[in-house]
Amino acid sequence: MTYQIDRYPAELIDVVHLAHERVVIRPVLPQDEDLTGAFFGDLSAAARHQRFLAPMRWLPPGLTKRLTQVDYQNHMALVAEVFRDGGERVIAEARYARLGDGSSAELAISVAEPWQGLGLARLLLAKLMCRAAAAGIERLVGETLASNQRMIGLARKAGFTVKRSPELGGVLLIEAILGDGTRQARLAAITPCLANLEATPTAA
Ligand SMILES: CC(C)(COP(=O)(O)OP(=O)(O)OC[C@H]1O[C@@H](n2cnc3c(N)ncnc32)[C@H](O)[C@@H]1OP(=O)(O)O)[C@@H](O)C(=O)NCCC(=O)NCCS
Repeated sequence: MTYQIDRYPAELIDVVHLAHERVVIRPVLPQDEDLTGAFFGDLSAAARHQRFLAPMRWLPPGLTKRLTQVDYQNHMALVAEVFRDGGERVIAEARYARLGDGSSAELAISVAEPWQGLGLARLLLAKLMCRAAAAGIERLVGETLASNQRMIGLARKAGFTVKRSPELGGVLLIEAILGDGTRQARLAAITPCLANLEATPTAA
């Protein structure tokens, strides 16, 4: 199948310093497939479970391709990476995928364990929410295990409501209203989005 995108959104590229390291945040690229596979492979089994809401010892074939071949409008993904020993290493990913109704999107986020607690998820989520609003998404939703205190804390601080899933025991639904999807709302989302790119998260 042909991979088609409108344009690589270079304006979302950002550099922050965390734990005395330079961290590049950028929209994902198709050539990030191996880096993305390594990132998810290096997560603990518990973190992978939290991310995919299912125990996942191995990533299903084709998953990393789907996670890296995004169109930046209906499916947007940001990665954070560091450079070590002459190579890149992905340390976090955050994405939304537009749902069938066209006005909602589902969110997913994960940060490598050594990089947790430094504000990286907060930063990625803020960028993603801006970008989603600018793309006309009105409602961002997600699912998290009820035991996932970090994700629940992150979501609440970012303005999401949290409630029990009526269908899945042990799962919570999170939801944030981003705007009404009008052209005015989209344009209003762009400026704070770029301002956020300059924000430096809490560094250790
Ligand atoms: C959830 C996750 C993405 C948070 O990433 P992170 O980079 O550690 O989060 P941040 O450092 O940006 O913290 C953001 C907020 O999360 C909350 N948080 C972070 N660590 C927490 C902890 N140990 N306990 C409770 N809340 C916590 C806090 O509200 C924090 O805000 P604060 O720093 O102002 O207090 C990360 O733990 C993770 O990748 N978990 C595995 C995958 C996953 O659970 N994904 C979510 C489902 S898609």
